[in-house]
Amino acid sequence: MEKDINILIVDDDLKVADLLKINLLSLGPVYVRTIGTANEALEFLDQEEYDVVISDLRMPDMDGLEFFKSMNTSHPTIVKVLLTGFGDLSSLHEDMKNLNIFHFISKPWQKAQLQILMESIFREIRNKREINLLQKELEMVITSRDNLRSQLKSNLDGMLDSFKSLMKLSSHTVTVHGRRTSLMVGNLATRLGKSQDFIERVQTAAFLHDLPLLAYPDHIQHGLESYMSIHEKQNYERHPEICANLLGNVEGFSELAEIVRYHHENIDGSGFYGVLGEDLSDESKMIRICDCYDEEETYNRNAHQSTLDYMKMFKGKWFDNILFDEFYEMMSSLKN
Ligand SMILES: [Fe+2]
Ligand SMILES: [Fe+2]
Repeated sequence: MEKDINILIVDDDLKVADLLKINLLSLGPVYVRTIGTANEALEFLDQEEYDVVISDLRMPDMDGLEFFKSMNTSHPTIVKVLLTGFGDLSSLHEDMKNLNIFHFISKPWQKAQLQILMESIFREIRNKREINLLQKELEMVITSRDNLRSQLKSNLDGMLDSFKSLMKLSSHTVTVHGRRTSLMVGNLATRLGKSQDFIERVQTAAFLHDLPLLAYPDHIQHGLESYMSIHEKQNYERHPEICANLLGNVEGFSELAEIVRYHHENIDGSGFYGVLGEDLSDESKMIRICDCYDEEETYNRNAHQSTLDYMKMFKGKWFDNILFDEFYEMMSSLKN
């Protein structure tokens, strides 16, 4: 059987040390070594690993308390047990507490008591080992999870860059619209005191929200519904869903997918898919506002103030009241 607990006995009386060693060996798979002086023991502890040190109180070169004091500096985690004569005990309680001595064995000891004491020490040591092992395993799990996260993050960043490059190559209209919407929504989120994570997420979603329009003709890319045939309008209304499916296929983009899915929804349920405000995320509601502003100002060629006035008519119907008020204030201050 593997000896899993190492014990060092320090006692100048070698007969006592040997007797204690015999008793300890009878308790189970333990390794026991005896040594005659405290100074030798301190040297020994630097060379071999011990779990428990049992030291006599009275020794010629250094007494047990001094010895344990030195051990507290060099080997603080080893369990310390004091071997004492019966008469010594009453004056030792304070020292034992101060020096973190686990317990004492009084000479002559009774085998049954020794057994109870040592078994409780062994249990404690094994529990500590188990906890250390679990902590190490946990650290390894956390490290590998962090590595996976950073790997995934760099993959996703690469994927986003590819989407953005594709947009730039394919359509100036969709790219510029995405960039402007992203800029506005980022400023709005900052003004609303949103977290950095939120701001990054909503800006990315805003940049990509019209990605499928790359495959549509110009007048549809501009979102000019009055120029669309019924069939084209039906196709156009599918672009948020197509965008969500496109992003949703990439692991790690599910949040972005759900934001873009609802970027044409109105809080009164009159949007493309009839979703009500209470079921919409702030991100989707904010993109709805900024998206509408950019389309009205750019494609419908409305002036800044008339765009804001037009949008204000739909506050509480299309646009969330609080978010729109903040947006209105932000845009008014930007252009003034
Ligand atoms: Fe859109
Ligand atoms: Fe848009």
